[in-house]
Amino acid sequence: MNKPRHFLTLLDFSPEELKALINRATELRTMLKSGEQYEPFKNKVLGMIFEKSSTRTRVSFESAMVQCGGGALFLSPRDTQLGRGEPVGDTARVLSRMVDIIMIRTFEHEKIETFARYSEVPVINALTDTYHPCQLIADMQTYAEHRGDIQNKTVAWIGDGNNMCHSYINAAKQFDFQLRIACPGGFEPNAQLLEENEERVTILRNPQEAVDGAHLVVTDVWASMGQEVEQQHRMNAFDGFQVNPKLMDLAHKDALFMHCLPAHRGEEVSEDMLEDPRSVIWDEAENRLHAQKALMEMLLGTWPNT
Ligand code: CP
Ligand code: NVA
Repeated sequence: MNKPRHFLTLLDFSPEELKALINRATELRTMLKSGEQYEPFKNKVLGMIFEKSSTRTRVSFESAMVQCGGGALFLSPRDTQLGRGEPVGDTARVLSRMVDIIMIRTFEHEKIETFARYSEVPVINALTDTYHPCQLIADMQTYAEHRGDIQNKTVAWIGDGNNMCHSYINAAKQFDFQLRIACPGGFEPNAQLLEENEERVTILRNPQEAVDGAHLVVTDVWASMGQEVEQQHRMNAFDGFQVNPKLMDLAHKDALFMHCLPAHRGEEVSEDMLEDPRSVIWDEAENRLHAQKALMEMLLGTWPNT
């Protein structure tokens, strides 16, 4: 069996490949808008395992497959044997003999690594507790479309050192930008990841300092999926870390605001920030569709001229 290529974190692709991916995503967006029919995934099947909720990820992957001539299967632990304790390695070996590519949203990152080890087809990380790389390709595409190259720019991450924050740290390395993270004590991202990226990632306690002159300001919910019981404790801990137009005014005059969504208005972000002209959240959400088509082209080997 040839070892398939997986996309579990942004580090699975080279900086050149990631750049090509976001350019291709923009091309695919233009093709779709112009009504061009393009079916590189004809007869291909995507298996989609969701152990957590999703709106954007599910709809973007499923639509991407349908628009490109293939099909997608939604698999939840509630109605598969995975939810009744069938080992991940067994599920991976069986599914990967029936479908062409698999995406998984789950809790422990180790679970997707195990799955990928046993899979005969490419596996995509559609969010784990530790990383959310698909969101980052859409975010980087969105920045490039609005402002050009992000290289040497400064990005401010305001809030929890969570899965999105970890993927922003990987993006800082792969896309070569500076990342300032403002978070309360006790909510820092993974220490080892920080150490490996210490020349481009800074931890601050003050959101104003992090946003000062930044070209992109990003936030995410204070309590991620699986942390619902910590909601109140986190609301208290993150007091003062809301992104709003007043905070955003400290950023560079051409700064953009992003949020992977869903957003909790009045918590990590104010209602008027989401509606502010500097906010590109709807383009960011839409780009999940185009970016994931480009990603699947690369993993399925249907990349044009290859
Ligand atoms: N941003 C994101 O992944 O959204 P969903 O949880 O709706 O898929
Ligand atoms: N950090 C959030 C992202 C949701 C897309 C979560 O894991 O719930």
